[in-house]
Amino acid sequence: MSLHVIILAAGQGTRMKSSLPKVMHSLAGKPLLEHVINTARHLKPESLHIVYGHGGDSVKSQFKADDIQWVHQEQQLGTGHAVQLALKDIASDDRVCIQYGDVPMLSVETLIALLKESDTLGVLTAHVEDPVGYGRIIRGKSGQIEAIVEDRDTNEQQKYIQEINTGILAGNAGQIKKLLGEVGSNNDQGEVYLTDIIALANKNGVEINTFTTSSEVEITGINDKVQLASMERSKQQQIAEELMKSGVTLYDPARLDVRGELICGKDVVIDINCLIEGEVELQDGVCIGPNVCLKDCIIGPETVIKANCVIEGGVVGKGVIIGPFARIRPGTQLNDLVHIGNFVEVKNSEIDEGSKVNHLSYIGDSQIGKRVNVGAGTITCNYDGAAKHRTTIKDDVFIGSGSELVAPIIIGKGATVGAGSTISKDIDDDVLVVERSKARILTDWQRPKKK
Ligand code: UD1
Ligand code: MG
Repeated sequence: MSLHVIILAAGQGTRMKSSLPKVMHSLAGKPLLEHVINTARHLKPESLHIVYGHGGDSVKSQFKADDIQWVHQEQQLGTGHAVQLALKDIASDDRVCIQYGDVPMLSVETLIALLKESDTLGVLTAHVEDPVGYGRIIRGKSGQIEAIVEDRDTNEQQKYIQEINTGILAGNAGQIKKLLGEVGSNNDQGEVYLTDIIALANKNGVEINTFTTSSEVEITGINDKVQLASMERSKQQQIAEELMKSGVTLYDPARLDVRGELICGKDVVIDINCLIEGEVELQDGVCIGPNVCLKDCIIGPETVIKANCVIEGGVVGKGVIIGPFARIRPGTQLNDLVHIGNFVEVKNSEIDEGSKVNHLSYIGDSQIGKRVNVGAGTITCNYDGAAKHRTTIKDDVFIGSGSELVAPIIIGKGATVGAGSTISKDIDDDVLVVERSKARILTDWQRPKKK
């Protein structure tokens, strides 16, 4: 018996007050729907159907994956109608699991527990503090589930029931198809409610089981920006706890934001207010100071990144020291033991072992050798207004402070550039080059005085 997953994601999400389809809003750096798809994939389903409608193509184009079958629901005629559309392609003997595109925190463990209860029909329920907005679980004297009553249809007594329908449901495809065929749209929304199959199944003597999760955050759906922000906090807390359990030291788990994937080695320490985006790897013993933003980068073992650095799209070697206040931009490779100091920007450049750029410099489109010292305030002039050019600085070069290197240019091995020089020609190995105008010394001059 194969398993198929149906994800309902056609709703408009009016309460988000946004032109973006609801399921495309971001949680921990990924669209809500991506979280749901990832969880579904863990079940290794035979097929994965996503019912989409609002914002149609923009949703589809974000998830170009071979394992997704897109089901278009032109009009949102209800959750039952959406499931009916997806069931057309699923064999009656098979099993289906229905997830919601706007419930991003549901765990695989909970889904597996529900599937164990779902030979015919299984409903995932939860006990919540405030059941308003949810369908309520109506149980008979023996505790058997008899129906789900939508919030708007509850009577005075049902209103106080705290066991709710999470919306997640699993069961035999043929059975669900058959029941949905009998469900009408005789309610004040004129919709086909998926939830109505429960009362019908009960009436027809079809076995229904429930699995109840104790985690409220897992089953919470996102309807507006307030819920989205609160879910973001829950998700970040979950990520921080996982990191700490895997051995990472977080000075304050409430002050870390991971919007993507963070892989950490042993003994990694992260100070407060750090933002991680895209795919970031911190190898053994890396130490990240406060207020650091890291995006799509790999940081080698024992490297220290001091406060207020921004690193995007770089590979950093072992024992490197960066910052405080440094900016590393895409295409940069810093090899072992490199030092990058304060107010230094490095873009699309490789800096080899043991070289130092410690103060107030711009290094762009450059290749810097080993043991090079780049003095304070050095600028590689890589742009002529039309094209970018490369700067090559060979091993053991010393660049004096306040130098400008006008690219394309090659500074030979072991050469020394005198402070304050503007160099626009290639320089041979081992020479000293100084380019300064001669100092003028005036004796018949007076500094202006304030009146
Ligand atoms: C639904 C359940 C309710 C449950 C709650 C849990 C029904 C009738 N009610 O109510 O019992 O407690 O979820 O959050 O099922 N969708 C479509 N096509 C449609 C309508 C909805 O794809 O025609 C999708 C939505 O995008 C959303 C999901 O189905 O992802 C749920 O729809 P929504 O309108 O939010 O249902 P609720 O009123 O919250
Ligand atoms: Mg909802």
